[in-house]
Amino acid sequence: MKISLFFVSFLVLLPLSLQDPIPKVKAPSRAHAELTSHGFPIGLLPLSVKDYYINKTSGDFSLLLHGTCKITLPPDNYLATYSDKVTGRITHGQIAELRGIRVRAFYQWWSITGIRSSGDNLVFEVGVVTAKYPSKNFDESLDCEGTRASS
Ligand SMILES: *[C@@H]1O[C@H](CO)[C@@H](O)[C@H](O)[C@H]1NC(C)=O
Repeated sequence: MKISLFFVSFLVLLPLSLQDPIPKVKAPSRAHAELTSHGFPIGLLPLSVKDYYINKTSGDFSLLLHGTCKITLPPDNYLATYSDKVTGRITHGQIAELRGIRVRAFYQWWSITGIRSSGDNLVFEVGVVTAKYPSKNFDESLDCEGTRASS
């Protein structure tokens, strides 16, 4: 009797223990949810998005932020700036005709013109030049710098 009861509770509890112990990070806004539904991590956008519009047919989107935004991207600490308006066209695994995101690297500012998802990596396009980074670097959506008291 004792044993069978133990066995039953074991079977009942087993599915719970098999669940992912780390809850999935909830997308902070519709714009972030749009990223994940197209195969991109939410960290490509700053945390706070003011307004967002997408044409579901063409994938053309425009995104309004609360002013220009500066973020230091881990792990290499590249400085990225977002204009208060970011536009582009998103389809599964691909963001094209991107405008409004610049990254500082090699002592120069580069406008990111497109982003592709390729396996576990993101391929950033600057015109015809590309740079590849692990997608997991962008799993977290960061606050714009200067919007919160920093240590
Ligand atoms: C959305 O995109 C489609 C295809 O490019 C276009 O025909 C349509 O007019 C667009 N809708 C709006 C509201 O811009």
